[in-house]
Amino acid sequence: MTRRILITGAGRGIGFAIAQVLARDGFSLALVTKTEASAEKLRAERFVEAADATVVAFDLADPAALASFVADWREPLWGVVHNAGICETAAIADPDHDPWGEVLAVNLEAPYRLTRGLLPRISRPGRIVTIGSQLSVEGRAGYGAYCASKFGLIGLTKCWAKELGRDGITVNAVCPGWVETEMTNSDIDRIAAEQGRDAAAFKAEIADPLELKRFNSPEEVAELVAFLMSQKASGITGRAWLMQTVWNQQ
Ligand SMILES: NC(=O)c1ccc[n+]([C@@H]2O[C@H](COP(=O)([O-])OP(=O)(O)OC[C@H]3O[C@@H](n4cnc5c(N)ncnc54)[C@H](OP(=O)(O)O)[C@@H]3O)[C@@H](O)[C@H]2O)c1
Repeated sequence: MTRRILITGAGRGIGFAIAQVLARDGFSLALVTKTEASAEKLRAERFVEAADATVVAFDLADPAALASFVADWREPLWGVVHNAGICETAAIADPDHDPWGEVLAVNLEAPYRLTRGLLPRISRPGRIVTIGSQLSVEGRAGYGAYCASKFGLIGLTKCWAKELGRDGITVNAVCPGWVETEMTNSDIDRIAAEQGRDAAAFKAEIADPLELKRFNSPEEVAELVAFLMSQKASGITGRAWLMQTVWNQQ
């Protein structure tokens, strides 16, 4: 029987690339997006059809929608990739904007509830991969909620690895630095605009201290996830895999 992997946030960016690469590797897919428009676009992809994929749209930040998804899910899963994430910034001193609730709900509570709910469906052995960030290991001004959620994911990853290792379920976090996606480009545009700078020059400046002198591609992140999902990675668990050096600016 083909092994099925559930991927959240598969509509675009890193999650879309993970879906493509895991389909290439022969897995069946279960794909979660937020919007029906994204789900519809995914269903039209040839690799999605070929991977016998189930595509479902619901808001991971809505506890009732998440509980109902979990209650309805009956199929066995080889693995889960907790990829969906949002990044909203606000300084702790900002009296007008507080993204804490939504960021924590999508980035941290949803992986927790989804894993709890789907665990009886995950095979032994099996795989869980969380998508952390360079901000899973370092702080950045204005990113308190995002950092808290991504540090928290590493905590869950390490605890679950210890709890589930005896069942052969490995749990690892992939922590990309800067990746060429919509999320990154809108972040860079916003910071550059705030600082009155040219976005392209700002991007080049960010890339300079990175080992590879460039951002990662979504496909490069996906290849690491694919390795961790494979049989070859059966002995690797409880680790946070940081992809490049942390870009550390105040
Ligand atoms: N981009 C980077 O540079 C970078 C770096 C480090 C870590 N990461 C992490 O990598 C992951 C993916 O990032 P990305 O840049 O690929 O993101 P993205 O391009 O913004 O895509 C986010 C995906 O998550 C889905 N999503 C967002 N909120 C959701 C919700 N409430 N319920 C259900 N689905 C939801 C979106 O659904 P729709 O398609 O329906 O909108 C979309 O498919 C995130 O966890 C992010 O924190 C990204």
